[in-house]
Amino acid sequence: MRIAMIGTGYVGLVSGACFSEFGTNVVCVDKDETKINKLHENIMPIFEPGLDKLVENNVSGGRLEFTTDLKEAVQSADAVFIAVGTPTRRGDGHADLSYVYGAAKEIAEAMDGYTVVVTKSTVPVGTGDEVERIIRETRPDADFDVVSNPEFLREGSAIEDFMRPDRVVIGTESERAQEVMRQLYRPLFLIETPILFTQRRTSELIKYAANTFLAAKITFINEIADLCEEVGADVQAVSKGIGLDGRIGKKFLHAGPGYGGSCFPKDTLALVKTAQQYGRPLKIIETVVDVNEQRKKQMAEKVIKACGGSVDGKKIAVLGVAFKPNTDDMRDSPSLDIIPALQEAGASVAAFDPEAMGEAKEMLSGVDWKENSYDTMDNADALVLITEWNEFRMLDLDRVKGLLNAPVMVDLRNVYNRQEMKDAGFDYTCIGRPK
Ligand code: UGA
Repeated sequence: MRIAMIGTGYVGLVSGACFSEFGTNVVCVDKDETKINKLHENIMPIFEPGLDKLVENNVSGGRLEFTTDLKEAVQSADAVFIAVGTPTRRGDGHADLSYVYGAAKEIAEAMDGYTVVVTKSTVPVGTGDEVERIIRETRPDADFDVVSNPEFLREGSAIEDFMRPDRVVIGTESERAQEVMRQLYRPLFLIETPILFTQRRTSELIKYAANTFLAAKITFINEIADLCEEVGADVQAVSKGIGLDGRIGKKFLHAGPGYGGSCFPKDTLALVKTAQQYGRPLKIIETVVDVNEQRKKQMAEKVIKACGGSVDGKKIAVLGVAFKPNTDDMRDSPSLDIIPALQEAGASVAAFDPEAMGEAKEMLSGVDWKENSYDTMDNADALVLITEWNEFRMLDLDRVKGLLNAPVMVDLRNVYNRQEMKDAGFDYTCIGRPK
């Protein structure tokens, strides 16, 4: 088996490397020559734990290659995966499919012999139909099937998610294409991973339904956290109390500053737009989008309140700016709302993140970027924890107190124990737990 992976972004690179680890020959293609040259030197364009090692092993094993030559990669492939970006389209909130359709056209021009074209990018319902139409129009003689195979990788644990998934979803009614996909995922049969074969449109919707459901679950617990603060209850205990019910499940019930990242904000919005377009508005998801947007902004208010009602002229130390730990991804991170709002309220901000500062410097201005946690909080009037990197979970509290001007800590991820913070003499604010 030989596959071509079009796009070496997050999804394409991880999926390509993992398929090669399964023993398939993989060629990853990207238009960006600099990126491909760096990959040839084993320099990863993203931070993802274990990825560099995986790539290195499979390149030296001869199963993984990188190229800018789409034509050659596609010609020799049994299956071609489209893993290009589908960002939010400016102006209307729909997913921008220009990269997907562009790739479909190029693939059509290059394909040789029966080829399975697989959309791995997150695409709205009906995109597979349009990909098929474009290929047919470009190459009326082509022998191919278009399959939907959404990814369910989480940044930071993407390799594990690929190697040990809860399920694999494959959307196609062609038995010939099903057989190719079955071959590709054969290693997962050994660990008895459920493989769900379904219609292409259904598969496309499964991806959005999964992400929007998870986003709704987080938003639900975030609102319950706000209520906990009003009524004097503890959201962590509520999460546990409801999560132990198998029908609810305990994952994705961690209250925080609002979901961010490259997927949930974009996918919730895109599904809302699709539903409106079909005249079947999804009122729950529309509300989830609004509540989450508001929430990220409200987090700055929480910090200001913790600082006695004003941060004007104060220095605020921020730990963690990535949208979650173990990634350098800043897309739609809550920090992008919180930090500018604090600056607007007159605060100066010093910040540190173990991996995301490179990207963050491009997106946030006026921040004093530091080399480590303790330098960041030196002489600050409050410490705000936005991203729960492991290294922020065990700070030396005496040292923290000694460095801060005032022992004010705002923990937006509920990493610390309230009693411990109280005993250590902190004025501690967290999410959905009594003060
Ligand atoms: C998400 C999904 O979890 C993946 O299954 C999916 O494949 C991926 O999107 C995608 O569509 O590509 P990801 O965005 O990497 O993965 O990260 P998550 O771990 O899902 O976290 C998303 C956001 O929700 C983060 O901001 C995180 O801090 C927040 N979150 C998550 C919470 O606030 N509370 C929780 O309990 C869980």
